[in-house]
Amino acid sequence: LNSARESLYIVSQFAAGFFEDQLWNSADGKAIGLSYFKERGFREDIIKKFNLGYSPDVWDALTLEAVKNQHSEEFLEKTGLSIRNDKGKLYDRFRGRVMFPIHNFTGRVIGFGGRTLKTDKNVPKYVNSPESDIYHKSNVLYGLFHAKKAIRDQDNCYLVEGYADVLAVHQAYIENVVASSGTSLTIEQIKLIARFTQNVTILYDGDAAGIKASLRGLDMILEEGLNVKVVSFPDGDDPDSYMHKVGAGAFKTYIEEQRQDFILYKANILLAEAGKDPIKKAGIIRDIVESIAKIPDNIKASVFIKECSHLLEIEERVLLTELNAIKVAKS
Ligand code: GTP
Ligand code: MN
Ligand code: MN
Ligand code: MN
Ligand code: MN
Repeated sequence: LNSARESLYIVSQFAAGFFEDQLWNSADGKAIGLSYFKERGFREDIIKKFNLGYSPDVWDALTLEAVKNQHSEEFLEKTGLSIRNDKGKLYDRFRGRVMFPIHNFTGRVIGFGGRTLKTDKNVPKYVNSPESDIYHKSNVLYGLFHAKKAIRDQDNCYLVEGYADVLAVHQAYIENVVASSGTSLTIEQIKLIARFTQNVTILYDGDAAGIKASLRGLDMILEEGLNVKVVSFPDGDDPDSYMHKVGAGAFKTYIEEQRQDFILYKANILLAEAGKDPIKKAGIIRDIVESIAKIPDNIKASVFIKECSHLLEIEERVLLTELNAIKVAKS
């Protein structure tokens, strides 16, 4: 049955094929798009695995080709692949960008992220498909289709920020990785992970924004009852830049050795900010106990209280009193 939603999937798949063909077979695609990926250090097998592509730098390359192939303007517009100008004419949303098709977890193309090749700060780095009847960005994890088997096998899911990070981690032969890309982590995304594993390892960018997002993310993951660990990267690096800097083998070793449980991660960040000020330290302890209070399982929570007690040199009894106070206040 050819429902309207089905038509959106079909035109999205057509577009993915078009962009991919452009990358490998057109003069500009090869000279601009493919060489861009290669300069960033991505291998051909990774570029192919994720069906990466290139959108020509003209107004309506995809739109014309799609219409020529009997795709209707209605569905081009509804997927956001084409935009209607004020004269009523359709033009391409994605132009002169390298293209990352976004698959749902059954492998169907539902949207795109397009990265600019320009260094101009006024140009948005990524343009993404708008919401549509097949693409709800808060319910999607980039890379899940390619990761789900490995997530089950490894019983762990690495969570990164961006498209390029997913590719780089795969290139290091680690396949259990997804990105929240283009949105801050949502409850729906965490529930999606929870279908495959109860264990999440956050690998966010080593900048202020990444650290802030990881602290917020870990609280949300704890609240959903999942276990969470964190690997931090040097300031200025993300998993993608770091993997290309040190190589696949050293990258794998790094994430295995640097993996911290969330309390240690959070304590290190907060303690570094507070220094020796006892009032600030008290605030940190409260902050960490707030995270522990999000854990639905009381036994797990009490194990973390014990660990927190050792780490911060505070009596367990004091921490438990605080934990109970927070829980009472929340209920
Ligand atoms: P690269 O420079 O290609 O390595 O990108 P990145 O993934 O390192 O980008 P960054 O850390 O800045 O952002 C992480 C993710 O947020 C990206 O992969 C995108 O999904 C999304 N993002 C980044 N910049 C933009 C933007 O300008 N617009 C939108 N809509 N999303 C963005
Ligand atoms: Mn819907
Ligand atoms: Mn970033
Ligand atoms: Mn990044
Ligand atoms: Mn990056």
